[in-house]
Amino acid sequence: MSTATSSAISVMRHHRSIRKFTEQALTDDQRSAILASAQAAPSSSFLQASTVIRISSAELREQVMALCGNQAYVGSAAEFWVFCADFHRHLQWVPEAKTGFAEQLLIGAIDTALMGQNALTAAESLGLGGVFIGAVRNQPHALSDLLQLPKGVIPLFGLCMGHPAQDPEPKPRLPANLVLCENHYPAKFDEAHMQAYDEQVRHYYRTRTGGKKEMSWTGQIGDTLAKEARPFMLEFLQQQGFCIR
Ligand SMILES: Cc1cc2nc3c(=O)[nH]c(=O)nc-3n(C[C@H](O)[C@H](O)[C@H](O)COP(=O)(O)O)c2cc1C
Repeated sequence: MSTATSSAISVMRHHRSIRKFTEQALTDDQRSAILASAQAAPSSSFLQASTVIRISSAELREQVMALCGNQAYVGSAAEFWVFCADFHRHLQWVPEAKTGFAEQLLIGAIDTALMGQNALTAAESLGLGGVFIGAVRNQPHALSDLLQLPKGVIPLFGLCMGHPAQDPEPKPRLPANLVLCENHYPAKFDEAHMQAYDEQVRHYYRTRTGGKKEMSWTGQIGDTLAKEARPFMLEFLQQQGFCIR
């Protein structure tokens, strides 16, 4: 385990998703700093293919929460921002632009994810907390109608932010030697490291839930990957003008 540190490294290494918030609002200044940090993220070919929609209307927030599997924190967080990949803006200024390439979906998704993570790290560095919400993709047609997203724009994830009302332990990550490979992909990952990690995750959940949840990492990914992954997504992406070539 490295001992090299800095204030940025300390914030990133202490990350844990926060799902309970106080009612305290963010200041305009905090919001501006978070957005400026998000926008400072690198951008592929400087396309800046992202738009953020801040859901400030209480009524709209309720509707968005319903579309996100009614996850309570989508409603209760001081801030809820929807991060979208956006090529609509480019088409406004350059109508002859060639869009719809699968590669551009990756560009939009990568640019937007980098922005989102910068936003969360900035929030955490200010003593705030947050959690990403992939459930904005549960009903993408309905959400896009609600947020009036034009063709060329897709919602990728939401971000709840606010003052934490809980203080969970950081979740243990895969051991570094299962994630970082030297020069080539290994023929097989080390079984013993995997089993040790499974036990670490089981212990994490046991402790965090007071013994109610007992789940290894391989058990968890087995459950998740046994389900279809939003099989309607390709049709939605193509309707929005993505991934048609
Ligand atoms: C793109 C993305 C989407 C996510 N969607 C949800 C979500 O809809 N609801 C939720 O409670 N957590 C969501 N999470 C949070 C993950 O569950 C969480 O990051 C993961 O379990 C690791 O825990 P940690 O963030 O506390 O380290 C999402 C995370 C990411 C990166």
